[in-house]
Amino acid sequence: MPNFSDIYADVNKPLHLDIGCARGRFLWQMAQVEPKWNFMGLEIREPLVIEANNWRDEQGVNNLHYLFCNVNVSLGKIFESLPTGILKRVSILFPDPWFKRRHQTRRVVQPKLVEDLANYLTVGGEVFLHSDIEEVANKMCDRFSEHSSFYRSSNDWLNENILPVLSEREKATNIKNQPVYRALFIKSEEPTPNLSEEEQK
Ligand SMILES: C[S@@+](CC[C@H](N)C(=O)[O-])C[C@H]1O[C@@H](n2cnc3c(N)ncnc32)[C@H](O)[C@@H]1O
Repeated sequence: MPNFSDIYADVNKPLHLDIGCARGRFLWQMAQVEPKWNFMGLEIREPLVIEANNWRDEQGVNNLHYLFCNVNVSLGKIFESLPTGILKRVSILFPDPWFKRRHQTRRVVQPKLVEDLANYLTVGGEVFLHSDIEEVANKMCDRFSEHSSFYRSSNDWLNENILPVLSEREKATNIKNQPVYRALFIKSEEPTPNLSEEEQK
């Protein structure tokens, strides 16, 4: 698991996590635009991660790292080595849709992932959800709305991208003049611990 202090020049900067970062170009641009933040991209396709980290090294950027993992298996473990109070922003941009019902358990936004984010995001931390498929966007929003630690910033889809950079997929969708469904969730409070029956008395 990553040693965050070894990865970043200054581990105390706020951390933005991008889940399913693909080739990592979105985060690369974010790291230029927001040098006071650290950025970490998580991606299941290892060759993309190797290429993105090599590219990062060539450019000498010290606030950006890409990690090869399956977020639905490893996120909790990754967070165990995360210094407290630094995770302030998460983006899940155009996750794979997995249309067939029997494949939908492969979608990244599952209750366990939402629970992990609720446990490690700071209060006031933001989760950006974008998709070009309304059903996928709605399902992601349902998962976050179901969790008591998150509230949605607006009931309507956000009109525009409020992040300073567009992801590769968002650029491609805009070129095709197709809609993008965007929502922002904010962590309002720490999750209530699961109390045993004995503790609840
Ligand atoms: C459609 S692409 C979107 C890429 C990028 N976020 C964008 O907006 O341009 C979805 C990415 O999520 C990655 N991915 C899918 N499931 C994953 C998982 N369980 N853990 C980590 N990455 C995953 C895929 O390999 C792919 O690169």
